[in-house]
Amino acid sequence: MATATETVSRPTIRQTSCFIGGEWTPAESGRTLECIHPATEEVVTQVAEGDAADIDRAVQAARQAFEDSEWSRMDARDRGALINKLADLIEEESDELSALETLDNGKPIRDARAADLPLVIDCLRYYAGFADKIQGETIPVRGNFFSYTKREPVGVVGQIIPWNFPQLMVAWKWGPALATGCTIVMKPAEQTPLGCLRLARLAQKAGIPDGVINVVPGYGPTAGAALVKHPDVDKIAFTGEHLTAQRIMADAALSLKRLTFELGGKSPNIIFDDADLDAAAAGAHFGLYFNQGQCCCAGSRVFVHERVHDALIEKIAAMNHERQVGDPFDMNTEQGPQVDQAQFDKIMKYIDLGKQSGAECVTGGDRSGDVGYFVQPTLFDGVKDDMEIAKDEIFGPVMSVLTFSDLDEIVDRANNTFYGLAAAVWTRDIGKAHHIANKVRAGTVWVNCYDVFDAAAPFGGFKMSGMGRELGFEGLKAYLETKTVTVAMD
Ligand code: NAI
Ligand code: MG
Repeated sequence: MATATETVSRPTIRQTSCFIGGEWTPAESGRTLECIHPATEEVVTQVAEGDAADIDRAVQAARQAFEDSEWSRMDARDRGALINKLADLIEEESDELSALETLDNGKPIRDARAADLPLVIDCLRYYAGFADKIQGETIPVRGNFFSYTKREPVGVVGQIIPWNFPQLMVAWKWGPALATGCTIVMKPAEQTPLGCLRLARLAQKAGIPDGVINVVPGYGPTAGAALVKHPDVDKIAFTGEHLTAQRIMADAALSLKRLTFELGGKSPNIIFDDADLDAAAAGAHFGLYFNQGQCCCAGSRVFVHERVHDALIEKIAAMNHERQVGDPFDMNTEQGPQVDQAQFDKIMKYIDLGKQSGAECVTGGDRSGDVGYFVQPTLFDGVKDDMEIAKDEIFGPVMSVLTFSDLDEIVDRANNTFYGLAAAVWTRDIGKAHHIANKVRAGTVWVNCYDVFDAAAPFGGFKMSGMGRELGFEGLKAYLETKTVTVAMD
């Protein structure tokens, strides 16, 4: 057991500029943005605030690196070796990188160490192995022709990521882009640029050629939009809110960019009366409160069969009462602050809406402490399908529990949302489990588990939860163009 004295020291902040063509440079405007530690609300550093001018330089550097023979002619296996080298350097520094994640995002250091960093390393190694296994086919066309396909990198990719898993989102995006031989301009979230900048330094140290990875910190409507509109960018990979994705889709239309989106959710977590209730309660708790509820796949609609409702509420309430909320640098802490004031305000608004709508607030329902963006683990019971807290993505530690009584009803209710990212079902009946897995319109379905991620398993959304998939071979294909070559044989 960890003791109260096990507080991890704060990391050293090393990189705070734009990283363009292998050089660390301030924003051309000279402007900076503040990095705030969400647990204390103190400004820990200033980071370059890039805008269209810096994005343009970064895109030029990425284009040049894409054309340059050092990268474009590199043997695929050597490209894989560089990605593996980056993973090794991250592993060597993983305690420091975990602490940087905690400083930037506020997530508990034990989560950063146990989840974020191991997943970053695993994802990069998974894609490193793909670099020399990207191959085409020979096609039996009519006539005396030899026809074959090649798989080529899509080109310069713009990658725009959010703040909830800052370094893991870097790995999900750099892994397939590097494995395929693309070059990158990344815009990290304005709330959490520090980890991404450190990873760029490690990529340079690993020997990835200058210009292959460029990072421009800045805001969405300025730096982000400039990247989306830039005519020399071939693809945008975006993770964030569906409203932002709609804006991006419109902005990208003129240059017909390839787009992949990984967006939000209101994922149903369905617990039948024949489930192992201790496992289901623990899974529902983890599936919602993990990462302060800031997960795109959070199981935020918990549907419980009426026969086990009371027992489930009791178990989850007990877990909430015991949950350690506080300093994220303390190894005992299970829940840290929300990422920023805007997210905190949004969550508090939904808690008020929940109370006003007549749902019963069983635990929490208020902020925690008076400094930092801490929210108590909140549990609403008696939630109805048409309440705002059952419809909107809250992105915080707020669980809505709804009851159901039969199998036919639950599928329609689970699907009654414009989202379709994830779902889970808890039951000992294999037929029921497969029925739900077939009928639910979601990109991922977990049976008797929650939040089980693997770099090899595709992840993404149906409906307005996304477009395309990340991770696995599917995630790799999103960075490839197919070229058909046909040769006359006589
Ligand atoms: P957001 O979608 O606005 O931000 C994500 C990224 O997009 C950031 O890097 C941001 O700078 C960039 N961005 C914003 N506007 C842009 C534009 N016009 N053009 C190009 N890039 C742009 O999400 P935000 O505002 O941080 O959070 C709002 C809500 O979105 C959250 O409360 C949550 O419900 C949802 N969200 C979902 C995430 C997921 O993992 N699916 C992650 C973060 C937020
Ligand atoms: Mg936004």
